[in-house]
This record gives sequence, structure tokens and C-alpha cells, in this order.
Amino acid sequence: MTPYVVLEDLDKHYAEGTTHRQVVLSGVSAQIDRGSLVAIRGRSGSGKSTLLNLIAGLDIPDRGSIRVGGENLHAMTDRARTLFRRRHCGFVFQFFNLIPVLTVRENVMIGLELNAFDDDTASRKTRELLATVHLADRADSFPDQLSGGEQQRVALIRALAHEPRLLLADEPTGNLDATTELEILDLIRRLPGERNTTVIIATHSELVAGHADRVLLLGSGKLTGS
Ligand SMILES: Nc1ncnc2c1ncn2[C@@H]1O[C@H](COP(=O)(O)OP(=O)(O)OP(=O)(O)O)[C@@H](O)[C@H]1O
Ligand SMILES: [Mg+2]
Repeated sequence: MTPYVVLEDLDKHYAEGTTHRQVVLSGVSAQIDRGSLVAIRGRSGSGKSTLLNLIAGLDIPDRGSIRVGGENLHAMTDRARTLFRRRHCGFVFQFFNLIPVLTVRENVMIGLELNAFDDDTASRKTRELLATVHLADRADSFPDQLSGGEQQRVALIRALAHEPRLLLADEPTGNLDATTELEILDLIRRLPGERNTTVIIATHSELVAGHADRVLLLGSGKLTGS
């Protein structure tokens, strides 16, 4: 199989003021096959969100390289990286997923519009996707009128709407009951087979990890696993 994401010797630290320096990632390397579903586990604070942000090109490593689909993310200009992410990557953030001043429908449509889908196609896809997560009747609601789990479902379909090659999902089932978690997982699980999407999920959930092709463990700055 061809690797779709290649991480080479990544280091990342955060510094607060002059005294606090925290090393989060130290020499992280991995190859993630195209069309595979990989779960990243690790204790709270181990660096899962940090790593996903780096793979999305939302943050810059101190050292090392990240290639996605053969492109070296940090050899690109900022603009090229933004366009690459917009086209090829879907991201479900751990927190603050939806734009509060937009309705559910508008939140889903925005990614399609940024990718130059015409209005009719964007509306149709949005309707279909809302139906798959049982939220067709909530299209005109605002995010703060939805439950946490409903918001997460909207965030997931928004990340998938433009059919990205890479889905990065940070605790996408964190607020869900077991039944809804299974439904969401089923949707995510089908992506590698149906669209050859590469999926990387940061999760604490046993259920999600149990459905992954590979489980990687992040701890003490290192990524290990099968
Ligand atoms: N912007 C930041 N500035 C300073 N420190 C940060 C910043 N972002 C994260 N950290 C620290 O880096 C470490 C890794 O954080 P990260 O959010 O990547 O962990 P995580 O594995 O996603 O945790 P969780 O399971 O709780 O979501 C934590 O100790 C955190 O406090
Ligand atoms: Mg996190």
C-alpha cells in the first residue's frame, strides 16, 4: 500500500513565558496507508490534538517533516498550504466546531462553497448529509440550539461534505451516547472502503479504537504501535 501521510522525526514543544518549556512530541515518525483508518490513543495531554493540528498544517513542527499525498506541507507557501488543506483535508475539531452565527445548513454548506461547488449541488449534498445523521429537520437551527452530540454530528458531515482524501477527527464521538457513537463510527468506518479516504482519529474510546485498522499510542512524546 502507498502511504498517504508520512511523518518524519517530528519535534514539537510549547513555551509559556521564559521558564515553562514543554516538549510534547519528540522524534515522532509514522507512515499511514492510503485508505486506512488509524486511531491515535494516549492520555489526556499526551499530544494527540497537537499531532492532528500538525498533520492538518494548522501548526508548524520545530523539526521534522510531514508529507500528505506526496506533498511536503511545510515546503509550501502559507497560501498553498491553506488551499491544499481546504481541498484535501476534512477536520473535526475537539472543541468549538461550529460557527455560532450560522445555521446548521450554513455550517455544512460553507466548506462546499469554499471549494467552489455550485449552490444547487451544495444544497443537495447538505440535505443528503443531514439526513444521514438524522438531522434533516434541524437545518435551520443554530448550533447553540443543538445538543453536544448533535453538534458533533454536524461537525462530522461538514468535514466530509467536500469528500476530502484525508479526514482528521479529534475525539469525534466524545459527547455521544453508545448508539449514536456507533452510527457515527459506521459512517466514518465506511469511508476508507467507499472513497479510499485516509482517516486519522484521536480518541479515548475503546469502541472507536476497536474499529481501527491500526491503533497508535502517543506517550512521553513518542508514537508507538502496530
Ligand atoms: N497552545 C498551547 N500552549 C501551551 N501548551 C499547550 C498548547 N496546546 C497544548 N499545550 C500542552 O501540550 C500538551 C498536549 O496537548 P494536546 O492538546 O495535544 O493533548 P491531547 O492528547 O489532545 O489531550 P486530550 O486527550 O485532553 O485532548 C498538554 O500538556 C497541553 O497543556
Ligand atoms: Mg485533544
